[in-house]
Order: sequence, then structure tokens, then C-alpha cells
Amino acid sequence: MTDPQIVLTERVQQALARAFGPEHADADPLIRPSQFADFQANVAMSLAKRLRRSPREVAEAIRAELSDFPGTIEVSGPGFLNITLADSFIESEARRMLADPRLGVGTITPSQTIVIDYSAPNAAKEMHVGHLRTTIVGDSLARLHEHLGNTVIRQNHLGDWGTPFGMLIEHLLDIGEQAAVAQLEAGQGTEFYQAARSKFDSDEDFKTRARARVSTLQSGDPDTLRLWHVFMDATVRFFNKVYDLLGVTLTDTDIAGESMYNPMLQKTCDDLAASGTAEMSEGALCVFPPGFTGSDDKPLPLIIRKSDGGYGYATTDMAAIRYRVHDLKADRILYVVGNEQALHFQMVFAAARLAGWLPDTVEAEHVRIGMMLGKDGRRFKTRSGESVKLMDLLQEAVDRAARLIEDRGYDEALKREIAHAVGMAAVKYADLSVSHDSEYVFDLDRMVATTGNTGPYMQYATARIRSIFRKAGIEPGEANAPIVLAAPAERALGLHLLGFGELVAQVTAASEPHRLCAFLFQTASLLSTFYEECPVVKEGVDPETRDQRLALCALTLRVLETGLDLLGVPVPERM
Ligand code: ARG
Repeated sequence: MTDPQIVLTERVQQALARAFGPEHADADPLIRPSQFADFQANVAMSLAKRLRRSPREVAEAIRAELSDFPGTIEVSGPGFLNITLADSFIESEARRMLADPRLGVGTITPSQTIVIDYSAPNAAKEMHVGHLRTTIVGDSLARLHEHLGNTVIRQNHLGDWGTPFGMLIEHLLDIGEQAAVAQLEAGQGTEFYQAARSKFDSDEDFKTRARARVSTLQSGDPDTLRLWHVFMDATVRFFNKVYDLLGVTLTDTDIAGESMYNPMLQKTCDDLAASGTAEMSEGALCVFPPGFTGSDDKPLPLIIRKSDGGYGYATTDMAAIRYRVHDLKADRILYVVGNEQALHFQMVFAAARLAGWLPDTVEAEHVRIGMMLGKDGRRFKTRSGESVKLMDLLQEAVDRAARLIEDRGYDEALKREIAHAVGMAAVKYADLSVSHDSEYVFDLDRMVATTGNTGPYMQYATARIRSIFRKAGIEPGEANAPIVLAAPAERALGLHLLGFGELVAQVTAASEPHRLCAFLFQTASLLSTFYEECPVVKEGVDPETRDQRLALCALTLRVLETGLDLLGVPVPERM
């Protein structure tokens, strides 16, 4: 089945070509949902001027060419085409969709290799709430691309290298490996970092040791590297706990941290200098990509090697982009990273294009992530001004979800399972349902609410359908009676569902999971009207109607569950 809006677009384009000549075959017919019909086409108004005819006349001419259209078309007002699809058309498309294991979601051919850089917490500090969004949005994009048949290569660009590791390793030695590991595994990375930092600031001897340790680390001294591994392994074990809790698909094989590029940095600089892409400026090696100027109108440098010889964040990203294009063979690279790094990525992409490392055939895109705000409208912090710990936050979401289902009479194990699913859905859905580049206020009360555009509301919609099937005594997979859309609520739901496949394709192409949330939310709203107006398993409903409605329920359930799965939102069978 095809999205009716697409079917319509094609049909109207064909009509335009027949009525006004082939040069109009690609005109946008401007199909929109309508208040007065299923859709309206507004193309007659824009075309009329060019054709020097009245819009109504143009509209009539288009209508005349659509006489075989499955539905009715009326010309209204100054020249709108109001289009109502025939019920039989929607029904047969809905039946095809029910029989299609992919629910009308196509696959991309030829399939592309999509590199997705996401999550990327810093090991020297604790994974904080800012990394929650990059993790959740990135994971949804990975799921979407895989579902469309693309090859996804996840790259967790961990902050796992650099000067802070000198003091971190020295602190690890001071407190003992075992104690350090226990602390890091427990998610006390910030405390660990702060303790190291305060010694560094107050203790000259420690400072000297830390500095020396940076050199031994960078020169690849085996003992120091072992200690670095002890630190990193414990830290990654904690990150994995968070990923597990969230149900995020990242694994250790996806780790491609800054340290991985360390051996490539010198060559990165040498090659950029040799090709003339980078030049020396005030002792530093810099690329000046055209079009970037500072406040003083001077060209803005992307510093590849600092004047002290050190490499920085930009060096690593230049090495990474070359690796992703050349070695990973990316067709498209998504960087799911905070908004505040927008300039950095613009410059890295421009510099990579300049160097010929990022050919025009490869797309690089910064999927900008907006800041998470506290209720006061500022960057989300604890009362004492520290950044909020991810684990505490997730635990609190689970606790609130547990309270929500307290009185349902479930046994302990089931309660825990549902509370976990609801808590994670609350947090993840809240994150995904706003456009990824906008800021939003972290508000657990709103997130766990079972009404409105929330994760628990979506879960509730699926649980409701599951309970209908339990009452009917059949599995959703067994409901395959022909879908009949007699009542208005059935028709509206059926028509809406047909748009799923096209929507998933668009959401993936544009990196906009929030539009999938909006689609699912509307699905749930239409379902709830259907639920009120069209009894399914009730006395007085004849068996034929019951089976037809069960088939519509089954289709709706699959759309909701598939959609939520693509978002990474868990769906419990009961709530
Ligand atoms: N670790 C960085 C941060 O927390 C994000 C890294 C993003 N990826 C990249 N290739 N620079 O801000």
C-alpha cells in the first residue's frame, strides 16, 4: 500500500500533464489534509497565473482528467480541489497493509552505509544528562536506518584521551586500583575527577607527577597504558549499565573513542600541511575554511596542531572523518552532538571537503541536540549547582512509574518489569517527541503522565489493544478478517495508518524522530475515538463486525509497536 498522499500527488501530476502539457508533470500539486474532505489540492491557484486562466477553470480542467479516480473530487471556493477517497480504496489498501510484514515501509536500494556518531560521553567526567539526548536520538536514528535496510555503523566517540588522563591515572594510583575501579563502576566519575583536580590545583608534587604521566601515556609506555585501560574499562562498564537500563543498542564494539585516532594524528597534520590545506599561523597549524570569519572579520582558524605541538579536538575529528569516509566507506555520516558544537562541525566538514577527504558524494550532517533545561529555564542542574546524574534520574523515573502501577495487583517481578519499561519510555519519549534541536524542560511529572503526547500514553494505547485481544481470546496475529471501515472513527483511523510507510522514510531521511512521535500520537488519539465509538468485544456486536474491528485493531497495534520500537521505546504487554 502506498501513502494516499503520494498516490494523489502522482495522479494529480498525471492529470496536470494531460490537461496542460507534459511540462507540468513535475509541478507540486500541493496536496494537504483538509477540513472539508480527506485532502485538498491547491495547485490550481498557483498554476492559474502562469496559464493566464482563472483558478476555478484550471481546477475544473484537472478534475475532468481525474474521472477514473477512486473517490470524489469537488472544486470549491476560488479553486480548491477537495478530494475524498472512496471507502473501498482505503479498505483495500488497509488490507494489503495488514498482510504486509513490513507494513508498507519500503527498503532503500541500493542500501547505504550510514555512520552514526552518538552518545560519546567523556570518561574523565561522569556521563551526564546532556549525553542522554545524544544517546537516545542517535539510537533511534540507528534503528530507523537499519529498518530501511541501510548498513549502520555506530561510532561511540568517547572522550577517552587527553591531558586530564595524567592526573586521573595518578589519582588512581594514589587511592589504589581496586578502590578506583569500584568508584568508577558505580558511576562516581565526577567525584573521581574532582578529587584528582583538587589535588592537581593544590599539590605541586601531584601536579608534577600528573604532567609526567601525560608524557608517558602519550609515548605509549606499557605500564601507563595498562593503568589507562584499568580506568577506561571500569568507566565503560558504568556506561554499559546506563545503556542496558535505557535499552540502547550500543555495545563495546561500537566504541571508537578519541584514543583510537591517537596513532593517526601526526599523519593527519602532515597530510593537511603537505596538500596545502593547512598552513602555519602564529606557530599553530591551521586550516582556514573559506566563509568562516571571527568578530574581527579575520578568517577563523580550525586549529589542527597547537603552537605547543599538542593535538586537540579538531585534530581528532579530522582524523575521524577521513577514517569514516575512507575506511568505513560511509555514504552518509551523522554526528548526533550538542547544538553548541555547531561551528566546530561546520568547520570540520568544510576543512575535510577542502582537503578532499569528504567528497561531494558523502553527506556529513550535524544532528544538533538542544540543551536540556531545568524548570527554571536554565541548564539542567541540581540544587547545589552540579550537573544531574543520569543514573539518579533514570532511577527516579522508574520509581515514579512504579507508583503509577502500584495498585494493579501485579506480582513483584511483573511490577518491576513494567515500572522499568514505563520509566524508560517516559524519559526516552519525552526526548524524542520534541525536535532534536530545540531545548526542553526536563519535567518528570509530565513525562510519566499517562495522558498527552507521552511515552506512557503510547504504551497505554498498545496495552488497551492487547487487552481487547485477551478478551477476544485470540492473538493479534490471528486477526485477518477483511478490514471494513464503516464508522467514521474506523475510516479516520484506517486512512491515517496508510501514511506510516512514507512517514518512516521521511523521518529517516530528515533525521526527525519527533515526527514519528507525532504520527504515533495521532494514531493513539484516533484509536481512542474508535475505542469509544466502536465496541469490539461486547455483547450485541455481531461476529462479523467484531472480526473486522479486530483486524483494524491488529493493524493499529502493529503500527504502534513497530513505530515505538523504531524509537527504542519499550512496549510492555500490560500496564
Ligand atoms: N565527547 C564529546 C562531548 O561530550 C562529543 C563527541 C562528539 N563526536 C565527535 N566526533 N566530536 O561533547
